[in-house]
Amino acid sequence: MMATTTPIIVDVPLGDRAYQAHVGPGLLDLLGDKLAPLGLRKRCVVITDSTVGPLYGKRALTSLDTAGYKATLLTVPAGEASKSLSQAESLCRQMIEHGCDRHAFVVALGGGVIGDLAGFVAGTFYRGVPYVQIPTTIVSQVDSSVGGKTGVNMPEGKNLIGVFHQPRLVLADTETLDSLPEREFREGFAEVIKHAAIRDADMVPMIEAVLKDRHANLPELMARNIAIKSKVVVEDEYETTGTRALLNFGHTIGHGIEAAAGYGQLLHGEAISLGLIAAARLSCVFSDLDDMGKATIVSLLEAFHLPTAIPESITDDIILDYLSRDKKFEEGHIRFVLLRELGDAFVSNAVTLDAIKASIIALRK
Ligand code: NAD
Ligand code: GLY
Repeated sequence: MMATTTPIIVDVPLGDRAYQAHVGPGLLDLLGDKLAPLGLRKRCVVITDSTVGPLYGKRALTSLDTAGYKATLLTVPAGEASKSLSQAESLCRQMIEHGCDRHAFVVALGGGVIGDLAGFVAGTFYRGVPYVQIPTTIVSQVDSSVGGKTGVNMPEGKNLIGVFHQPRLVLADTETLDSLPEREFREGFAEVIKHAAIRDADMVPMIEAVLKDRHANLPELMARNIAIKSKVVVEDEYETTGTRALLNFGHTIGHGIEAAAGYGQLLHGEAISLGLIAAARLSCVFSDLDDMGKATIVSLLEAFHLPTAIPESITDDIILDYLSRDKKFEEGHIRFVLLRELGDAFVSNAVTLDAIKASIIALRK
């Protein structure tokens, strides 16, 4: 257990739904204390998964117990399959069995799967109870724990059922990232590199510094990414103005490759790495991104050992088949996020399916 240093605090100023993200090592042990200003009642559940629970569940419960909260740990199997309506129903029923009512609150302890699932449970249990996010992966710290998108998957597709429900607090304990397997640690950087590409070119040296020393600046880097996410969410909380869509940079083609690979072959961040390269290439064709900007994105992804070429087992035809089914295509065009330069993204209607095909073929080289 590392000594706690002063956390970095990032505000998410959403009026009566405003909250803070606290970022730093050792915050898990301060969970109970950090809840005090929120005025929550004492009954709560900590929802976690079968990998994270054994690692961090006890520390969360101890901290809650010491601060006078009555907490029950509820554990689901690790993995995307737990983001389901049946798992959400099971959690709600367990909460009722344990005596929770509309005065209870939820703590989500885990990666994006747990954040989305527990957030959805919190958003619907008794028509909505408060919840706190304790994200334990790179993706969940820089992206999913902030912004209030919660939900579960359907057999027909990902995230099809959900609610916007903002957390009351985000505690990003950067020390928990130490137990991530190397591949999972690295894949999360696809989203960090995406943030640099769409909003913050000056973050590039900070990202590179992690490669030399993982501990040197992780809290600062996570906080800087949360600040980017916060700003985008504040500009477009309910995804109506188009700003929040900028977060999809690299995701249209990335999702197509992920689906074509069959979920599980490529980690999400690995598929997004390929999507980012294709989107950078299209930004050079349909916008003003220069070769240097594109090369910076590619070399950052390479430095994190993220794929820059599509595995041979995934054919162009299968990827294009998935992409053609994308409902965002209208008469051969799609709303596609492009870069004007590194750090400056916009939504374009100019990108054609043929150009997307060419960018996928280019990923073979
Ligand atoms: P995840 O939650 O499945 O975590 C990945 C794996 O790492 C799991 O097996 C988990 O048990 C394990 N793990 C988590 N923390 C660990 C730790 N500290 N040490 C060791 N192992 C640990 O996946 P993820 O990448 O964190 O999140 C992906 C999910 O997030 C997807 O369902 C995606 O749709 C969602 N998401 C949501 C948003 C949003 O805005 N709500 C944004 C991005 C992604
Ligand atoms: N991760 C996409 C969003 O929060 O809008």
